[in-house]
Amino acid sequence: MTNTLLILPGDGIGPEVMAEVTRIIDWFGARRGLKFGVSEDLVGGAAYDVHGVPLADATMARAQQVDAVLLGAVGGPKYDSLDFSVKPERGLLRLRKEMDLFANLRPAQCFDALADFSSLKRDVVSGLDIMIVRELTSGVYFGEPRGIFEENGQRVGINTQRYTESEIDRVARAAFELARKRGNKVCSMEKANVMESGILWREVVQAVHDADYPDVELSHMYADAGGMQLCRWPKQFDVIVTDNLFGDLLSDVAAMLTGSLGMLPSASLGAPRANGRPKALYEPVHGSAPDIAGQGKANPCACILSFAMALRYSFDQGDEATRLEQAVEKVLADGVRTADLMQAEGATPVSTRGMGDAILAALDASL
Ligand code: IPM
Ligand code: MG
Repeated sequence: MTNTLLILPGDGIGPEVMAEVTRIIDWFGARRGLKFGVSEDLVGGAAYDVHGVPLADATMARAQQVDAVLLGAVGGPKYDSLDFSVKPERGLLRLRKEMDLFANLRPAQCFDALADFSSLKRDVVSGLDIMIVRELTSGVYFGEPRGIFEENGQRVGINTQRYTESEIDRVARAAFELARKRGNKVCSMEKANVMESGILWREVVQAVHDADYPDVELSHMYADAGGMQLCRWPKQFDVIVTDNLFGDLLSDVAAMLTGSLGMLPSASLGAPRANGRPKALYEPVHGSAPDIAGQGKANPCACILSFAMALRYSFDQGDEATRLEQAVEKVLADGVRTADLMQAEGATPVSTRGMGDAILAALDASL
């Protein structure tokens, strides 16, 4: 079976971090015999500049056909004044929605070499390894009605939180399946105390658990308390499953526990395609960082680790994924640092390219 990959570098630092990923992909081809059919296309502001839309129909169609989409980042000040419907972010949201990528996996792992970068104490975060499973295709991000309307002489902004049983069911299953391969614990977060959608969420997650995953330890938490617990003692968690909006917030909180947004990958998975592989999109959690774009300062690790997730979840290459993750860990342990990670004494400052070089060298050394 050929491995097909669509690369969408996007905006800001997207292209420069993706350039490092491309070298890593080539390495796996040359040294591990893992051949990928790679194509590249535009997304976000880069697509708007050429097509007048943040994602062309032809790009959307291609994304549906490949084994995995790898995305850099979208957005930038240049596009802030665009109409909402063609803003760069809409390109990303269209990919998520039309590919039906309902399970967004956001690991928050604290690399030991970076434990002192967290705003929390070392013993609170060192060794941290949690996985947030965020529902990605429904909820208040997509619910209708939505819009800004006139009502009694003033404007009113409306968004709708909406979840069907089947939408909750499928993301709950994804969380339980993952938990079985990790710490076997799931904590589900909603606001069942104030929201009907939260009441339904809790009921369905509990029912899926009782019917098919009684061996997994399940707890429920209100999402606000969940945010507090994430900061107080994050190591109590293994897998967290939550809705689209709470997941957006809680994953940013979890990200900061690990010290740098520049380190965190994500995977967004949908239903299996005809060849048995899930529809999938991989992207760093960080944004397009327009303030440092084009300067070779960006940390490519999050994007490189996103490719590691692709190796694991799309290409069934768990061992090679681990090889890549360990190479990143080794480089950090050796004190190699991009600008976002520069505060430790004795660290070696490197550019985006330099970080790529160091990871490639660590890969070579792994053979
Ligand atoms: C994220 C981002 C996106 C979101 C934006 C860019 C649309 O914050 O992936 O977490 O809100 O989902
Ligand atoms: Mg976010």
